[in-house]
Amino acid sequence: MKVLSVSSEVFPLIKTGGLADVAGALPIALKRYGVETKTLMPGYPAVMKAIRDPVVRLQFDDLLGEPATVLEVQHEGLDILVLDAPAYYDRPGGPYLDQTGKDYTDNWRRFAALSLAGAEIAAGLMPDWRPDLVHAHDWQAALTPVYMRYYPTPELPSVLTVHNIAFQGQFGAEVFPGLRLPPHAFSTESIEYYGHLGYLKGGLQTAWAITTVSPSYADEILTPEFGMGLEGVIASRRDALHGIVNGIDADIWNPATDPVVHTHYGPTTLKNREENRKSIAEFFRLHDDGAPIFCIISRLTWQKGMDLIAATADEIVALGGKLAILGSGDPALEGSLLAAAARHPGRIGISIGYNEPMSHLMQAGCDAIIIPSRFEPCGLTQLYGLRYGCVPIVARTGGLNDTVIDANHAAIAAKAATGIQFSPVTAEGMLQAIRRAMTLYADQKVWTQLQKQGMKSDVSWEKSAERYAALYSSLAPKGK
Ligand code: ADP
Ligand code: GLC
Repeated sequence: MKVLSVSSEVFPLIKTGGLADVAGALPIALKRYGVETKTLMPGYPAVMKAIRDPVVRLQFDDLLGEPATVLEVQHEGLDILVLDAPAYYDRPGGPYLDQTGKDYTDNWRRFAALSLAGAEIAAGLMPDWRPDLVHAHDWQAALTPVYMRYYPTPELPSVLTVHNIAFQGQFGAEVFPGLRLPPHAFSTESIEYYGHLGYLKGGLQTAWAITTVSPSYADEILTPEFGMGLEGVIASRRDALHGIVNGIDADIWNPATDPVVHTHYGPTTLKNREENRKSIAEFFRLHDDGAPIFCIISRLTWQKGMDLIAATADEIVALGGKLAILGSGDPALEGSLLAAAARHPGRIGISIGYNEPMSHLMQAGCDAIIIPSRFEPCGLTQLYGLRYGCVPIVARTGGLNDTVIDANHAAIAAKAATGIQFSPVTAEGMLQAIRRAMTLYADQKVWTQLQKQGMKSDVSWEKSAERYAALYSSLAPKGK
């Protein structure tokens, strides 16, 4: 089966979060199920710089007002279609935000162009390759199934994956003519959303199937608390909704071979983690004592519960814990976490910024990773933690709920526990979990058992890729 995946970020070419990891790993995992994926993504400067020997596959004189070229390249096992449209993507700043941290004012056009290019390829515009199915990710690609719906050729099946329903791509109705959709697309059955435009909403209405990145999140977004206004639309498409938990690339994330990990290890050589722990203590200037190092690798936002860390930092230190924090995001949260680190030199270390190698080393050297998210569609850092013996301490929500087994008495006795879950997601709830972690940590036998059991968890893509492949086949039976 041939699949066109459309995503605004793909690891290792460009990454701001878990979407990139998923868009980069799923196509590789799907190969063994006979699925051949080409991934369409924007040609941001970092992407144009990284690719080698691209081949021109398609040219648009006027893709929503600007010229664009589709280039095909092979990159680290991925077959990538780069949408090279300098007017849209060749600019300083990130994929979505300018250098001052503001949304680009033309994001509506930048990502409509990506989606339209996807729909044109789906319609067979690219010589010698027409997909059997299109898989679009998040609001940035969500207009792909919308354009496909109104294309004058037979419609192909489409899947839309919701990685985070908090980001919906809402724009004013005045940009509608610029999308070049037929007038009747401005309707509640399509992209109209309370008088505005909702890209994700349009995708949810028009995609043949919808997936979320964990089963719990599929249930959660049916409720007003998590559905962020789209719960009604989700409910109306309930029959088409599937929750498939993310996996991780177990080759890239492997503590026995990871090139940035100083000292490699496996479940029977956990003692080797000590050397990595020393490097972390050095980098974050933490005292080298017997207290556990809890780490945080995260966007510093309210969603991720980072205000709870700031509010409880003093108490975590008072309990005897140490914190190593890597992240960036909300300036106010960055400020309060920096202030906490300044109050507790040697006990709290922080590095503001994005540092992929350090994120690996932290999983390989810290004792536990704290993830106090208020909502978490899947979450990947707990999966990396499981794989690396860095015990996850997680809020009981979404994918965190689905992937971590809480160390209650029964689970410890059955040797099934892999981490700690807490609820409610409040400062006290989280502190309670950290207290439990400190107690478990004090009994090294129990702690080691937790680490080992976590390392045994199947966090690979295997089962989930099989589920995606089965979903694809159910929608495009003739593709096989
Ligand atoms: P989200 O996509 O909502 O941010 P995920 O847990 O799905 O959350 O994915 C986050 C990804 O980004 C993980 O691969 C994590 O390791 C990585 N990450 C987050 N912050 C940083 C950072 N400051 N430096 C390096 N990697 C980071
Ligand atoms: C989003 C979600 C995160 C998920 C990631 C990959 O960024 O916030 O929970 O793991 O997408 O699916």
